[in-house]
Amino acid sequence: RYHSGKMKPQVYVTRQVNKEALDLLNECCEVSIWSGPGPVPRDELLKNISNKAGLFCMLTDKIDAEVLNKAGENLKIIATMSVGYDHLDVTEIKKRGIKMAYTPDILTDATAELAVALLLATSRRLLEANEEARIGGWQAWSPFWLCGPGLKNSTVGIVGFGRIGQEIAKRLKPFGPKRFLYYNRSEKPEAANEVGAKRVSFDELLMESDFISVSCALTPETKELFNENAFKKMKNTAVFVNTSRGGVVDQDALVNALQSKTIWAAGLDVMTPEPLPLDHPLFKLKNCVILPHIGSAAIETRQEMGLLTAKNIIAALNNEPVLTELKI
Ligand code: DGY
Repeated sequence: RYHSGKMKPQVYVTRQVNKEALDLLNECCEVSIWSGPGPVPRDELLKNISNKAGLFCMLTDKIDAEVLNKAGENLKIIATMSVGYDHLDVTEIKKRGIKMAYTPDILTDATAELAVALLLATSRRLLEANEEARIGGWQAWSPFWLCGPGLKNSTVGIVGFGRIGQEIAKRLKPFGPKRFLYYNRSEKPEAANEVGAKRVSFDELLMESDFISVSCALTPETKELFNENAFKKMKNTAVFVNTSRGGVVDQDALVNALQSKTIWAAGLDVMTPEPLPLDHPLFKLKNCVILPHIGSAAIETRQEMGLLTAKNIIAALNNEPVLTELKI
């Protein structure tokens, strides 16, 4: 075992994470941490990765050939505290025989929950309503003021019907939509059956859905899947919700679609870049709800993500099976 030797393997952690995770790592590894506010600056990462055996990183850290070259031959495991891995240059990492780990499953519920919250906040205009109440816009109860589309009898389209997409559908079902449609690489008969979802083409989903919720991974195939054309195909009453990655949307096209009322509203937990610049046009739109990438930000979930990331690193350094290895 690695830690029974004289030298403990060195691990670099790119952010101050939970104590449980660090305690576990400290038992068998020599741990160094970027403990500054926010993400590790690139030059710090490049400097500190040298000779490390393990890297505990976040979705805010771009792990590419440059980082891997600086790391050198010792690097055995890159474990990201996220389910998304579009920040990892998978090809370069695999070429060097370095293992990868991520945190699927444990964040599914939290992320699905947030997607539902965001969908409702967007369709029922919660933030706008709160603002009106604060600034004196609330003069009297009014019959059609601050109305938005309800889920009852609607068509809900899920793009990316994997773990998270399926859980979003399950949580939306009690709201009584008429039907669920999904667009996914592969058929998911069991999960589809459970909620009564029908697999359709991307175009059909766009044209038929009243609500579109995106939960697919960002890959070369899904990059800017939602472009000008896609928004044009949607209903002008459609509510668009994205909790996956900003990169699946052509953001300028989304701004135009919202400004021109080509679609009704958007709720975004992810965008490009993150954080979104304060003067970005999306912030000026009343029909756009913006959250700062908090999909998995349930307290216990984040703690479990930290712990699992630490366990994955330790397993790899002990040549044991990595709990949630990213194999692609
Ligand atoms: C992920 O894990 O990829 C989410 O975006 C953050 O939890």
